[in-house]
Amino acid sequence: MSLDTIHSLIHSESERPGIIARGWVRTKRDSKACSFLEISDGSCFKGLQVVVDAALPTAELLPRILTGASVEVVGDLVASPAAGQKWEIQAKELRLLGEADATYPLQKKGHTPEFLRTIAHLRPRTNLFGSVFRVRSKMAYAVHRFFQERGFFYVHTPIITSSDCEGAGEMFQVTTLKPNTPTKPEQDFFGRPTYLTVSGQLQGEAFACALGNIYTFGPTFRAENSNTTRHAAEFWMIEPEMAFYDLTADMTLAEEQVRYLVQAMFDECPDELEFFNKFIDKGIIDRLKQTLAKPFERISYTDAVEILLKSGRSFENPVVWGESLQTEHERYLAEEHVKGPVTIFNYPKDIKPFYMRQNDDGKTAAAMDLLVPGIGEIVGGSQREERLDVLEALMAKQGLDPENYAWYADLRRYGSVPHAGYGLGFERLLMFVTGVPNIRDVIPFARTPGHAAY
Ligand code: 4AD
Ligand code: MG
Repeated sequence: MSLDTIHSLIHSESERPGIIARGWVRTKRDSKACSFLEISDGSCFKGLQVVVDAALPTAELLPRILTGASVEVVGDLVASPAAGQKWEIQAKELRLLGEADATYPLQKKGHTPEFLRTIAHLRPRTNLFGSVFRVRSKMAYAVHRFFQERGFFYVHTPIITSSDCEGAGEMFQVTTLKPNTPTKPEQDFFGRPTYLTVSGQLQGEAFACALGNIYTFGPTFRAENSNTTRHAAEFWMIEPEMAFYDLTADMTLAEEQVRYLVQAMFDECPDELEFFNKFIDKGIIDRLKQTLAKPFERISYTDAVEILLKSGRSFENPVVWGESLQTEHERYLAEEHVKGPVTIFNYPKDIKPFYMRQNDDGKTAAAMDLLVPGIGEIVGGSQREERLDVLEALMAKQGLDPENYAWYADLRRYGSVPHAGYGLGFERLLMFVTGVPNIRDVIPFARTPGHAAY
C-alpha cells in the first residue's frame, strides 16, 4: 500500500491493523526499547514513522538498515503517543529489501540544487525533487484535461522533421551511424537533411485545418547556446492550434489555460505548494493567488515600448521600437508595471517568423507573448497568415525553400481559414507554479549546453 493511500486511511481517524508499507529509509533513531524509522515512498509529500520494538525477532536487521535502504513493514497503524506525527506504524515484521551503505549521498543534511543536479538519478528521492516531479505529472495531466474538456484532439506531431518552424536555424541535425564506424555520420537516411523539431506548430496547423481544435504536447529541441536559468536544449511544449480563431481568441485561450493550471496547483498539489512556499519561494502562494484574482492585462507592443521608455529605468539593453523585448524588459512589465501576468501583442513583423499574420498597419504581425513575474515569457503565439500570396511572399523574403514548404502552402491553397495557436513552455510553467528558479530543476534529466549526462 502506498504511503499516500495509508495517509488517506488516516483521515478516517481509525486504527488499522495489518498494514503493509514499503519505502526508503530517510532516518533512523534508536532508543533502548525500540527504533524509529522514518520511511517515504515518493507517493506523497509525507513520510511515515515506523516503530520497531527491540524485542521483535526481525529487529535484528536494524543495524543493517541505514539511510537510503529499502524496507517492507507489516504492522498496525496506530495513534502516535509522541508529538511530531499523529499516526505511526507499530511494526510486527520488518524486511530489508535493499541495503544502502554509508556512501549513500542523500544523508540527512541540506544539499544544494547544484549538487543534486550531479546525482539526477537519486534526487527524485528528496523532498524538493519528489515534490517537483509529482507536480510535473499532475500538471501534465491537467494540460490534457484542459484541452479534452474543451473538445480539442491530441495530435502526435513528428519529432524528426525537415522544417525549421521558427526559421532561426537553431536545430539539432539527425544523422545515422554506419555499422562498425561509429564516428562516421551518414545523413542520407531520409534522402534529405532532417532535424529534431523546434516546434510541432506547422504540422499542428495541418491538423487544425482538418479537425478544428487540436493540440500537441511533446518534447522540442533548440540548439541555442544560451546558458540561462530559463533555456534548455530539450524541453516540452504545449501547442494548441485552432481553426477559425483570431489573435484575440488565441490570447483568451492562453490566459484561460494558465489560470486553469494555477488553479490545478491549488486543488491538486496543496502539500507541495506549502513546501515550495516555505523553502523555495516565500511569495509563491501570494503570487499565484494574485494570478487568479483578476483578468490578465493586455498591452500592445507599441504601448509596452512607450511604458519602458517612460519608466526612467536604465536597462542593460536599450529599448528600441522594432527590436525584441529582452528578459529584463519583460520582467519590468510583468513585475513592476502590471504586477502580474501580462500579454503583449502586435509585435513588429520584421522580428517574427514567416508564418505570422501580417496586420493592416504594414508594420506589425498578429503575434502575442504572455509574460509572468519571475520568468518573463512563458507563452508565444500568433494568428497565422492564411492568405496564400502573402504567405508566399513572406517565405521568399525569409529565404525558405518553396518546395520544402509546398505542403504548408497547400493549407492556404485548399480551403484556407483564419487560424491561430500558441506554444506554452511546460518547464517555464512549472517554474511559475513552483517558484523553482532554475529550469534544470523542473526537468528530470536536463539537457543544456555542455550537459547531457544520462
Ligand atoms: O516563442 P516560441 O519559440 O514559439 C514557438 O515555437 C511557436 N512555434 C509556438 C506556437 O505558436 N505553436 O516558444 C514557445 C514557448 C516560449 O514562450 C517558452 O515558454 C518556451 O516555448 N521555450 C523554451 N523553454 C525552455 N527552453 C527553451 N530553450 C525554450 N524556447 C522556448
Ligand atoms: Mg517566443
